Amino acid sequence: MTELRQAALEILAMTDAQTKVGLVSQLFEDYQERRITLNSSGVLNQGELELPSRPSKPELIPPLQVPKRRMDTVGGRASLLHSLAHIEFNAINLALDAIWRFPNMPDQYYEDWLKVAKEESYHFTIVNEHIRSLGFTYGDFPAHNSLWEMVERTKDAVIARMALVPRTMEARGLDAVPMIRDRFKQIKELTAVDILEIILQDEVGHVAIGNHWFNFLCAKEGLSPISAYRDLARKYCAPKLRGPFNLEARRQAGFSEEELSLLGV
Ligand SMILES: [Fe+2]
Ligand SMILES: [Fe+2]
Repeated sequence: MTELRQAALEILAMTDAQTKVGLVSQLFEDYQERRITLNSSGVLNQGELELPSRPSKPELIPPLQVPKRRMDTVGGRASLLHSLAHIEFNAINLALDAIWRFPNMPDQYYEDWLKVAKEESYHFTIVNEHIRSLGFTYGDFPAHNSLWEMVERTKDAVIARMALVPRTMEARGLDAVPMIRDRFKQIKELTAVDILEIILQDEVGHVAIGNHWFNFLCAKEGLSPISAYRDLARKYCAPKLRGPFNLEARRQAGFSEEELSLLGV
């Protein structure tokens, strides 16, 4: 019998993407089947583990050095999909990190993030399979790491993590994915369009989970979600949000009308 949060920590420390994906699915199944327990109050320590352990490729580069992707070459399309695969890989890791790092949350919190980890593993798999069908694989292009950098920055407080990772960084995906989907639609690359639809749908759920736990923590601490978010965004240097925004998806993900109006649209 293993414990869910300890297992999440161990899988986070795995280097190989395929191994990690397989173990996440197994972990989800084991938890559903009650083959593993949950200890929400344990304070775990990463000890000597390097987190996350990542493969030697892709090479990480600053966001501004990422080349513009062309849609009229296979390499350009594969490189655009590769940037998504890298986000999905980081997203598996961020879900695992949310599970092991923060104690004393309700059981549902850990179960929600386990579901996110499983869905991110699926996203990674379908994107990478498609990249392979184009003759490339994960690691073949450089990638930027801004999603993981925000995870690192917010490791001291679960309220900051919820505010700035799912409901800021992942919420940007809700705005960006339809635009990428439409670029593939234009060139009639329908497999990619289908993959992006699945991702968009699931990501609404991930942002909703972030909103739910952020609002839960604000209520617990007697904070207004609007001012708490503003303060946290300033303290942790969150990126300034720029439109166009996918208001419909953001609304579905649980942002309030007041929060949407503060986006300045
Ligand atoms: Fe995803
Ligand atoms: Fe996600």
